[in-house]
Amino acid sequence: MVPIRTPKEIKKLRLAGQLAAEVLMALEQHVEPGVSTAELDAIAYKIITDANAEPAFLGYMGYPATLCVSINEEVVHGIPSKKRVLEDGDIVSVDVGVILKGYYGDNARTYPVGTISDENQRLLDVTHESLLKGLQALRADEPLGLLSHAVQTVAESNGFSVVRAFVGHGIGDKLHDEPQVPNFGRAEDGPIIRAGTVLAVEPMVNAGTHRVKTLSDGWTVITADKKPSAHFEHTVVVLSDGIEILTPWDSRAADYGLA
Ligand code: MF3
Ligand code: CO
Repeated sequence: MVPIRTPKEIKKLRLAGQLAAEVLMALEQHVEPGVSTAELDAIAYKIITDANAEPAFLGYMGYPATLCVSINEEVVHGIPSKKRVLEDGDIVSVDVGVILKGYYGDNARTYPVGTISDENQRLLDVTHESLLKGLQALRADEPLGLLSHAVQTVAESNGFSVVRAFVGHGIGDKLHDEPQVPNFGRAEDGPIIRAGTVLAVEPMVNAGTHRVKTLSDGWTVITADKKPSAHFEHTVVVLSDGIEILTPWDSRAADYGLA
């Protein structure tokens, strides 16, 4: 069963999403060569706890940090560390979840560190566009496959691949709810989405193969060919006349007609 959220629940999800977005906006100023991923984690922890909220990932299935910070060929679930320092030319994916008054917000984006290659910039732009085009295709009373297919089409028509092994998810009063939100598939497939459904949509796009593997730390996911990967995520609510982005960090969303 895919839960349908009440207007009261959507208000709480909006506040949680707003806080999750504030973390990503604040971190933008701190992403630079020489900064450790543990420093980014500490900044995020302070913003969240100062807002009387909790980091959603900390302790989830034993995950040890507030953020997932994944550099270059790392796809998702990189564990922050004092020893891991950002370098000029890196791309760094930051994923953050919060719990505020029992409701969850989840979002991610990949930042450039200093000056990055044209090819890495293209990977960031295409992954971001795949998210926004996917959200544009998402509609009440239509199959979720419209979104999945739109994401995949943007990524693959630009010569990149979408990760299959990890998908987006419903979200609300828990981090992971129904339905699963794949970033690939046929437009006519998947559940019919009804107004009041809240989703975390999170394409992971690889420069090379879609295949990934998990490192021996049990968390860090990397590309099988060690080529770079990018990740952009919004929490959104489907309304009868469109969607609302609940994690408003994204200045490009307006270009796609997304509030
Ligand atoms: N945004 C990811 C997700 O929703 C982050 C999960 S990391 C974990 O699945 F540590 F919480 F597992
Ligand atoms: Co998520």
